[in-house]
Amino acid sequence: MRNLTEQDLTDAVLAKLEGATDARLKQIMTSLIKHLHAFVREVELTEEEWFTGIQFLTATGQKCDDKRQEYILLSDTLGVSMLVDAINHRKPSGATESTVLGPFYVAGAPERPLGANIAEGVEGEAAYFSGRVRATDEKPIAGATLDLWSTDGEGWYDVQRKDTKSMRARGKIRTDAEGRYRFWTIKPVSYPIPTDGPVGKMLLKMGRHPYRPAHTHMIVSAPGYETLTTHVFVEGDPYLESDAVFGVKNSLVTSFVRHEPGTAPDGRRMERPYYTVAYDFGLKPA
Ligand code: BEZ
Ligand code: FE
Repeated sequence: MRNLTEQDLTDAVLAKLEGATDARLKQIMTSLIKHLHAFVREVELTEEEWFTGIQFLTATGQKCDDKRQEYILLSDTLGVSMLVDAINHRKPSGATESTVLGPFYVAGAPERPLGANIAEGVEGEAAYFSGRVRATDEKPIAGATLDLWSTDGEGWYDVQRKDTKSMRARGKIRTDAEGRYRFWTIKPVSYPIPTDGPVGKMLLKMGRHPYRPAHTHMIVSAPGYETLTTHVFVEGDPYLESDAVFGVKNSLVTSFVRHEPGTAPDGRRMERPYYTVAYDFGLKPA
């Protein structure tokens, strides 16, 4: 294996996989090498451009810590996360569609009673969510868990705020015997994904904006069913057509109905305007 040329270098690298014993790894690496080499050939990458790429990937890694995952952001903004999601979650009718997890999920949110406000003390307009979790055959699912999170009313997640040590606007709610759930939170707002790192610079260079349309995140799970990672989006949001991470699906866009101060559906006296949201989740059997 000497004197390798532009023509035979790819085959020489692929031949090195002969000893790989993991068939799936071999398939993935073969395809990755082929596509990577084809890309370099197609654009006739210069040495300067190749090194810019190396520096970009290095900076992306260096930006990661226990609260920041720049590689997820890169995958999300290049549409890879939603492509992986689409391939892995082909939903039958009656099952709620999934969308991107994003980098701001935090495991271990507190369990709250049905009807609780998971955004106690968080600035923003109040929103009351209610509905059912059911199977694709319409059977209600009792004891399903909704693991919920969102930004505050200014578009910041708790983990992004330097002044916030504890969890905010996060909580787990369980469905009752009829599969019903209800909780209070804030009406989400559209917000920019973090732009202070290499991915932000990349978006700028690509002429793209960093905004996501307003949404509330949830992971809905129950024994015997496929776990659902999804959002509820706010109808009318100006970024629904241009989500920076390609995550919007029509079936997840919902109206947040505005109400004047008065008595809310759970009997709570509201001194300020508030919103109600009705949304049912459908889970696919595992
Ligand atoms: C989010 O919705 O939290 C999110 C998703 C992808 C990238 C950045 C943020
Ligand atoms: Fe989000």
